[in-house]
Amino acid sequence: MKRIVILISGRGSNMLSILDSDLPVIVAAVISNRADSPGLDIAKARGLPALAIEHRNYAAREDFDSALAEKIDGYSPDFVILAGFMRILGNDFVARYSGRLVNIHPSLLPAFAGTRTHRRALEEGVRIHGCTVHFVTEKLDHGAIIIQAAVPVLENDTEESLSVRVLEQEHKIYPEAIRWLALGRLKLEGHRVLLGNPGMQPDALISPSLDAR
Ligand code: GAR
Repeated sequence: MKRIVILISGRGSNMLSILDSDLPVIVAAVISNRADSPGLDIAKARGLPALAIEHRNYAAREDFDSALAEKIDGYSPDFVILAGFMRILGNDFVARYSGRLVNIHPSLLPAFAGTRTHRRALEEGVRIHGCTVHFVTEKLDHGAIIIQAAVPVLENDTEESLSVRVLEQEHKIYPEAIRWLALGRLKLEGHRVLLGNPGMQPDALISPSLDAR
C-alpha cells in the first residue's frame, strides 16, 4: 500500500475526510506547522503519529522547509498531501517531491489563486465557484489539475455559506483524487492529468440552472 504524509495548519476537516474514506493508503503521519492545530488532536485520537514543526521557530523559509522535509522523509511517504496547509513552500521543497505533492484549493483554479477565495468570488460576481485538487509546482496554485467540483453561487450567499458548500465538495473530491493517486491511475501529459476512463460526464455545469428561467 502507498504511504502518505498529510500536512495541515488548522482544523483538519480535509484530513478527516481522507482518514474516513477507506482509501488504499497508509497514513504514515500528520504534520502541522502550528502546534495548536485542532487537526493534530483529531489525528492523535485516531492513533496516528501527529506532530508540529512550528514555522515561527525558523528565521528563514528554507530552514523551515528543510526541517519539514527531513521529518517527512523519516516516514518514507509515496505522496505528500497538503490539506489546508497554509505555508508557501519553497522551490527546493517542491522539486524534492515533484509529482508526489498535491494540494486542495478552495476555488476553481486558475481563478482565485491565493487567499480569501470565497470573498473574492462573491466580489467578482461569479456564478460558479468551487474547489480544485492539483499537483503542486513552483508557481503558486498553478500545478496540473486532478479534479474540480463546481458549486453554484446563490444570490443570498455570504462568504460563510459559500465556504460551507465548497468545503462539502472538498471532502468528496480530495479522497477521490488520493484514491486515483494511490492506484496509479493518474498520468501527466503536459499540464493535463489524464485518468483513463472516468465514466459518464455531463456536457456542462450551468448556474443558474436553465430550469430557473
Ligand atoms: C480548506 O478550505 C482548504 O481548501 C483551504 O484551507 C481550508 C482548510 O480547511 N486551503 C487553502 O486555502 C490552501 N491554499 P481544513 O483544515 O478544515 O481542511
